[in-house]
Amino acid sequence: MTDLAIIGGTGLTRVQKLAIERREVMHTPYGEPSGALTFGELYGRNVAFLPRHGYGHTIPPHMVNYQANLWALKEHGIQRVIAVCAVGGIRADLVPPSIVIPDQIIDYTWSRNHTFFESDLTEVTHIDFTEPYCNEMRAQLLDAAGKAGVEVFAAGTYGASQGPRLETAAEIDRMERDGCHIVGMTGMPEAALARELDLCYAVIAVSANAAAGRHDGTISMEVIDRNLDAGMEKVRSILEQVITTTC
Ligand code: HPA
Repeated sequence: MTDLAIIGGTGLTRVQKLAIERREVMHTPYGEPSGALTFGELYGRNVAFLPRHGYGHTIPPHMVNYQANLWALKEHGIQRVIAVCAVGGIRADLVPPSIVIPDQIIDYTWSRNHTFFESDLTEVTHIDFTEPYCNEMRAQLLDAAGKAGVEVFAAGTYGASQGPRLETAAEIDRMERDGCHIVGMTGMPEAALARELDLCYAVIAVSANAAAGRHDGTISMEVIDRNLDAGMEKVRSILEQVITTTC
């Protein structure tokens, strides 16, 4: 029985140590997920894996079918989701490739299919989203990071931007005034949809670059890719610990 899924973001389109047992193409009432769900054994435990941007990393953040992705996982009996997200660091001390386990979200995205509760309703439904991430999973990730010797920021506010372009310096200034510590393009509506489906969902955020206006010059994909490579090593250590010890 597989009840744990990993959603991989930019930099994690496959999990090296995952011994793949099967792949399953899913169709949902919301359309196609980003790819087939991969099922296999990772560090001695059954897990499912789904790369958010597709196996070829071709689906941009605003085009990801977040509804289908989460629905497909739920349909397969998944109860807990660890999502890996690349982000820009807004706070000066979030030097790439820092890792953050965020505890809050501010949503700046627009025009995304962001809820399952909009048609065929028997009554209007408002989910509680005071604490947008599953605190039990967050605690497990923090504990695992400690055991793995990976330094992480134990909290932080994730500003979800629309993308696919990066932000302007003024947008980052505004996000900082709002209280955001990191900025990424995929954190929403993924977290809210997970909550609507009652999934225990938490994020490992990898800072790939200093956010716009927080460094000299432009932000290059080369820098992002280099930092993500280094960041994913830390992510793998955390995943190994969390899967072998606490999950
Ligand atoms: N902004 C938004 N999303 C990101 C960034 C960024 O600077 N870096 C990686 N994902």
